[in-house]
Amino acid sequence: MPGTPPPRRYLDNAATTWPKPPQVLDAWLHAARDVGATAGRAAYGEAVEADAIRGRARAAVARLLGGVDPARVALPGGCTLALNMALHSLLGRGGHAIATAADHNATLRPLHWLARQGVIELSIVPCDGQGRVAVEEIAAAWRNDTRLIAVSQVSNVTGVVQPVAEIAAVAHARGGLVVVDAAQALGQVECHLAELGADVIAAAGHKWLLGTGGAGLLWVRPGLDIEPLVQGGTGSASDSLDMPEPLTDRLEAGTPDVPALAALAAGIGWLEEQGITAVGTRCRGLAAACAARLAAIGGVRVIAAPKGGPIVSFTVEGYDPADVAVLVEQIAGVQVRSGHHCAARIHEHLGTAAGGTVRASFGPLNTDDDVNALVGAIETITGGG
Ligand SMILES: Cc1ncc(COP(=O)(O)O)c(C=O)c1O
Repeated sequence: MPGTPPPRRYLDNAATTWPKPPQVLDAWLHAARDVGATAGRAAYGEAVEADAIRGRARAAVARLLGGVDPARVALPGGCTLALNMALHSLLGRGGHAIATAADHNATLRPLHWLARQGVIELSIVPCDGQGRVAVEEIAAAWRNDTRLIAVSQVSNVTGVVQPVAEIAAVAHARGGLVVVDAAQALGQVECHLAELGADVIAAAGHKWLLGTGGAGLLWVRPGLDIEPLVQGGTGSASDSLDMPEPLTDRLEAGTPDVPALAALAAGIGWLEEQGITAVGTRCRGLAAACAARLAAIGGVRVIAAPKGGPIVSFTVEGYDPADVAVLVEQIAGVQVRSGHHCAARIHEHLGTAAGGTVRASFGPLNTDDDVNALVGAIETITGGG
């Protein structure tokens, strides 16, 4: 008779956080079960409430970004969509763009697509063995026709934090723009746009902001225009074939996912109650402890970045990362991700191009027991301890 499987220990929070705080699930359920109307379209009570939910999500994101104007915060369906909107609009007329080898494919693929179509020329600057990009590389890659640099603030593979403010200084001194993919940063590190120097910032609601799938965010600095990649109904100026002027309307065509917006607002509310610094410190503490203990096991190579996001990438000598991921679940119920993690270029710099890495990522509701379970499972696999 097979034994009882070990309880689920979820360490794939960089993909999507789980479990969600109860407030988030309550907010999602209330919107789905009791509100059940779309936002910005009608005048009956539930429709007005749906609109208020969207307004609360917008306001929460504006607070999260350090008190920006909510009118500059669009809430598209996800981070990938938000990045595509920004990159296609800002580069639609051509020119040169810079990305980094540590970026996620949500940035790299639209840029590569534009390059393949002959719309832009693209330079991808290298990173070091932990995924860190040197500002000098960006300065060296800059050309007269460079329009923007796109950068993932925190790598989803190693957790390394890029020097965005310094990158922005280089870009702005040369008259360029900075598009920041903050999917792995928001909710983990305090993010004050005034200090960051970004012109555009995109992120997902379902990761460290603890919301669900279906809501992303796109902040665009005042004075910069983003043309809508998607055109359609907004519930406003419906008698015109032109997209309306306000940025939020222009970038939110189509029916919004109101439950996801409710979850996003509640997730940010939960983070505000707990304190983002406290939450981030706790998650990073678990990741650092895990990294240190894994590194002490013979045959294990850890690629975690010091002081980075709560992500530990590692390899186990003699094992394919995909097999390690299966084994740790079988042995200890630990769920991790393996492979290249939707980051096409970083692995050649990490020395992990063949099979990628095993990635454990720690969320606010993980505990020391989860670290113990993963470390114990790796000891079992390697025979070390
Ligand atoms: C750094 C980074 N950027 C962008 C994304 C894309 O997010 P989504 O798939 O929610 O659009 C991810 C998701 O893994 C990510 O880690």
